[in-house]
Amino acid sequence: MGSDEKFDCGRRRLMAAAAAAGSVAGVAAATATLIPFVASMKPSEQAKAAGAPVEVDISRLKPGQMMTVEWRGKPVWIINRSPEMLETLKKTNAKVSDPNSERSLQPNYCKNETRSIKPGIMVAVGVCTHLGCSPTANFRKGVESGIDAEWAGGFYCPCHGSTYDLAGRVFKDKLAPDNLEIPPYKYFGDAKIIIGEETKGA
Ligand code: FES
Repeated sequence: MGSDEKFDCGRRRLMAAAAAAGSVAGVAAATATLIPFVASMKPSEQAKAAGAPVEVDISRLKPGQMMTVEWRGKPVWIINRSPEMLETLKKTNAKVSDPNSERSLQPNYCKNETRSIKPGIMVAVGVCTHLGCSPTANFRKGVESGIDAEWAGGFYCPCHGSTYDLAGRVFKDKLAPDNLEIPPYKYFGDAKIIIGEETKGA
């Protein structure tokens, strides 16, 4: 990998984190043709600097929508997967390299089929496990996705072409070695998630 490519990876990641931190509207404008984003609660600058947990209001996140927040300098995605989106995970099981996420990073309470606490809501660190670019969400299907005719929705890393399904599981024969990381998190009521904090004994 050349120095230009490295720079490009770093720049993409920085741009993703900056978008999450300071300009959710900017993200929405840039990606409106692909994914409906919603605004999020943002932590204070002080809390971010300290790596503090981030509280996120997901009450307006509708099925099929995604939002991005910053946690410890990294973009964290929250996606409200519709029943139809969850159904695609059965089909991608045979195509991903670590279907049960045995060698991937996630808390024990997310070691399940959907890699989440509640099946519909996915929380994942939006950083490619290859060299750290931030993949792009692509929820279109088939040829319309521009990826391939069998694409059922997921994430595409533009740096070297790794692809992930709607549970953040990397497809086989890609450069990324592992599934996307799932951060520690917990619910506070039904409509709030705290990223970076866990329920004791969970
Ligand atoms: S950084 Fe290389 S495929 Fe994502």
